[in-house]
Amino acid sequence: MNRTGCDILDILIRKMDLSDVSFVYEEEIKIFGKSLGEMTLYNEILYNKMSRYFIAVVDKKRAAYVGSWLTIPNAEILNLFVIEKYRGLGLGKKLVTEVINVCNKENIEILTLEVRVSNKNAIKMYEKIGFKVGSIRKNYYENNEDALLMVLNLGGRQ
Ligand SMILES: CC(C)(COP(=O)(O)OP(=O)(O)OC[C@H]1O[C@@H](n2cnc3c(N)ncnc32)[C@H](O)[C@@H]1OP(=O)(O)O)[C@@H](O)C(=O)NCCC(=O)NCCS
Repeated sequence: MNRTGCDILDILIRKMDLSDVSFVYEEEIKIFGKSLGEMTLYNEILYNKMSRYFIAVVDKKRAAYVGSWLTIPNAEILNLFVIEKYRGLGLGKKLVTEVINVCNKENIEILTLEVRVSNKNAIKMYEKIGFKVGSIRKNYYENNEDALLMVLNLGGRQ
């Protein structure tokens, strides 16, 4: 059972491919009001050897996305969203865990991300996974909101 009170049906986490670009682009615009852009997303998938992007599919429908970079020996989560109707099913946590599993295979030492100080739900999720607040980045966002730099120490070993 999850926060929505529903049993999970069919959840798949898979690598993002070119067929997912328009989904990610459109949902980023809806959720964040901006996107990396379709061209950047294409390039990330086709050419960027550091990028690791994943999609969560629920009952055969795209529901969530995470983008990360392995900047060895460290790694960074660039973006994450779960579309509204699929929140509370554990998808956010599953996608971050997928990135952590990739990091562990690559012996990554530290996984970081930035999150708005006002984004209490995301901060709670990251803390539940084991991230700690590293520092505050003042006026990090375009509306001058501060970011928390959150850090997960993976130790660089499997
Ligand atoms: C933040 C976000 C990714 C969480 O995704 P989600 O799939 O709903 O989160 P999960 O179901 O995996 O929740 C994991 C944990 O996070 C916390 N949490 C997440 N959303 C919460 C909410 N609305 N209320 C209370 N706790 C919440 C809980 O501790 C939860 O564990 P629990 O269900 O055992 O209590 C999602 O709300 C989202 O996409 N928000 C908009 C975009 C965004 O903020 N992205 C992050 C940018 S850094």
